[in-house]
Amino acid sequence: MEILTTIAQCRDHRLSDRAAGRRVALVPTMGFLHEGHLELVRRAREVADSVWVSIFVNPTQFGPHEDFESYPRELKKDAELLAHEGVDIVFAPTTEEIYPRDPIVQIGFSGLERKLCGTDRPTHFAGVGLVVSQLFNVIQPDRGIFGQKDAQQVLLIRRLANELHFPVEIIVVPTVRESDGLAMSSRNAYLTPQERTAASTIYATVCKARDAIEAGEVCGEAVRRILITGIRSEELLELQYAECVDVETLERTEMISGSVLLAVAVRVGKSRLIDNVTVTPSATAEGTT
Ligand code: PAF
Repeated sequence: MEILTTIAQCRDHRLSDRAAGRRVALVPTMGFLHEGHLELVRRAREVADSVWVSIFVNPTQFGPHEDFESYPRELKKDAELLAHEGVDIVFAPTTEEIYPRDPIVQIGFSGLERKLCGTDRPTHFAGVGLVVSQLFNVIQPDRGIFGQKDAQQVLLIRRLANELHFPVEIIVVPTVRESDGLAMSSRNAYLTPQERTAASTIYATVCKARDAIEAGEVCGEAVRRILITGIRSEELLELQYAECVDVETLERTEMISGSVLLAVAVRVGKSRLIDNVTVTPSATAEGTT
């Protein structure tokens, strides 16, 4: 496994991959890797000859009072995990390499970036869109691998890749969970034992709402109430949003007739945690590709 830090090195390696006819899959990450990331890497291995992982804590996707400075960074340990998974290339650039000056290019998503997570993090998806475009442009992967836990991110990256004509196939991997259902996240590391116990209510609540739809509930507002009541039943969880929305437009669903996204975000102590499930009235489709 090689660790690259510059764009020039990436371009050289990419040329070698292309000359050798190797298909490249990229797993973009911000590091501090856990089992969820490793699942993405394993999926990448299934669909490509050369697996690249980027590790870059992207400043443009953090708001001014968010945890950019304190976001956990453990490159050495991450590199060991990735070497063990048989990753070919790690791209771990400095901030200056990606942003030699403050960027003036902005990626917008016509308001979709202001829904759900964008309500509390209004600039987040512009930053994600920018850095993912940069990574797609520098590495030119044949496949980009993302986790379903970040459902809104997946939706926006699909649109980005499609509308900017990046020749990349976006592959989505189901959310990896702890044994009590909590979605794996680097931010789980901030939780105290009590907060960690409380956090299991998040997925339990989403499942309750999903079960209601599968049992025949068609009123979006009723489903939303189940989500809100479930989250509020645990006093350590502070609700940020709980929504039952159309999977493409992210608009609130009034009458459920097709697939909906049940999505929640909560604050637990110092962490902000999100989770979601996609449901169709007759069948559950969590993490479809
Ligand atoms: O999902 C993440 O970890 C980040 O948003 C991503 C896609 C690596 C961009 O920084």
